[in-house]
Amino acid sequence: MIVTIDGVAASGKSSVSSGVARALGIPYVSSGLLYRAATLLGLEAGVDLHDAQALLALLDTHAPRLEPLAEGNRVWAGERELTDALHSSRVDAGVSVVAVLPELRAWVDAQLRTLPEPFVAEGRDMGTNVFPQAGAKFYLTASPRIRAERRARERPEDIPAIEAALIRRDAKDKVQSAPAPDATVIDTGPLTLEGVIGVILEGLGK
Ligand code: ADP
Ligand code: CDP
Repeated sequence: MIVTIDGVAASGKSSVSSGVARALGIPYVSSGLLYRAATLLGLEAGVDLHDAQALLALLDTHAPRLEPLAEGNRVWAGERELTDALHSSRVDAGVSVVAVLPELRAWVDAQLRTLPEPFVAEGRDMGTNVFPQAGAKFYLTASPRIRAERRARERPEDIPAIEAALIRRDAKDKVQSAPAPDATVIDTGPLTLEGVIGVILEGLGK
């Protein structure tokens, strides 16, 4: 059984997926962390983020891998843990450049498809491209202002700057961010985190 939870930036995908996964007693998989890991390695090595071959060479050398724990996913490159470095503004600003490269998308998709079921998978194209066969699909939305207000509680930046960056990233991610036709769309704006998790569990008959 695979459950997909896609949605726009900061719509609550990872928090909601973690809650749903814990309630079901299964792992969740945060696909965005793999795009973020490729971006971080590229930035650290000083390679052009448009250069797919240079990025693939770095991924070959460092072989980042996802540890899909229900309480929070981690990413490792050998013995080094990358997790805490993946949510910087620098990675936020570069990741959508990396995510449009077909070679990088193929690299992420290949990693995800090796994972043993069951799991909850979150990202942009989990229900459309990567796991079209998923048993249940959800898509989270909320206005840019609400998402920026939520993110501002985690990061030392002001709300208008975060909102502008989210809008820019949504635009760059638009191609891979279309909801699956068979996904249930949830506007999380008026809901608490627990409320969104409850709607999904109800949709799953739990
Ligand atoms: P994403 O994975 O889509 O980027 P996150 O799960 O990181 O989103 O959520 C962004 C922030 O918003 C987190 O601080 C999270 O706790 C908070 N959050 C998520 N969903 C809700 C909600 N429905 N109500 C209030 N806060 C929320
Ligand atoms: O948490 P947030 O939505 O801000 O970001 P994320 O899910 O960690 O994804 C980071 C970036 O990776 C997105 O802005 C997309 O560019 C890319 N991504 C993607 O293209 N496809 C996915 N399935 C997941 C992420």
